[in-house]
Amino acid sequence: MAVQILNESTEPTPGLLDVNNLEVVYNDSVVALRGVSITVPEGGFVSVLGTNGAGKTTLIRAITSLLFVHKGKIRDGEIELRGKRIAGSDSAKIVKAGICQVPEGRMLFPSLTVEENLRIGSSSRRNRAEINSDIERMFDLFPQIASRRKDVAGWLSGGEQQMVAVGRALMARPALLICDELSLGLAPQIVHTLFELLKQINQDEGTSILLIEQNARMALQYSKYAYILETGRVVLDGPSDVLESNEDVQEFYLGGAGEAAEAYATIKHYKKRKRWLL
Ligand SMILES: Nc1ncnc2c1ncn2[C@@H]1O[C@H](COP(=O)(O)OP(=O)(O)O)[C@@H](O)[C@H]1O
Ligand SMILES: [Mg+2]
Repeated sequence: MAVQILNESTEPTPGLLDVNNLEVVYNDSVVALRGVSITVPEGGFVSVLGTNGAGKTTLIRAITSLLFVHKGKIRDGEIELRGKRIAGSDSAKIVKAGICQVPEGRMLFPSLTVEENLRIGSSSRRNRAEINSDIERMFDLFPQIASRRKDVAGWLSGGEQQMVAVGRALMARPALLICDELSLGLAPQIVHTLFELLKQINQDEGTSILLIEQNARMALQYSKYAYILETGRVVLDGPSDVLESNEDVQEFYLGGAGEAAEAYATIKHYKKRKRWLL
């Protein structure tokens, strides 16, 4: 008789961030998220992958309470930070509670210096001595921008600007750092450098990381757990190494097929149909 091996407990462990069944609409008409649930554990390194328009930025806007700026609304679901509901809170309070993002497109102040941009990230804090020592810590973490501290940010290369953007977010000392498409427009080597830095911050300081990426190949190499988002739904999730070796994920996301390829859900549907036809 076959011996059935019981799975380990499937009881959900409470996360640092828990998004449950989130539904978001824009202009009371466009549904951008349709029941999305994700968890970032304390000290976790999680990625949310998806092509253009999947709903990645919308998810961040919902978490950071910036949907209203874009005429978006949470229609259903919950967002909890360490078990406390945060959906709809004031966005400044969410930063204070420990969530900070590196926004898509970096959004630096190009005419302010590198150091001034970093200081902006500490605006929710009061202790000047601590802020000053954190500024130096940022230059230790990102030696490439240390020599540029008095230069205006607009002069820096794309990779250096992204380092400033990450540093600025870290200046708030977040428990959770959310990065929206950090890799966009950057050379692979620079993306590796940035992701290595995130790994270091995650390991050495325990900062949890939520990486939102189109670059699935790179993100899966660094995150421990990943979700794949398509047209507002999570279509697959699992440990990053498991997803990396998943045949369908390889076919669609890692095969270099790009956006011209069929969506993961379409492939699944096609395969199911094919199996059914056989
Ligand atoms: N301000 C907005 N108003 C209306 N629709 C929007 C707005 N922002 C995004 N959307 C729509 O929501 C969906 C998800 O967009 P987005 O979250 O930006 O995706 P991603 O970041 O994955 O590229 C898309 O269909 C997009 O057109
Ligand atoms: Mg986006």
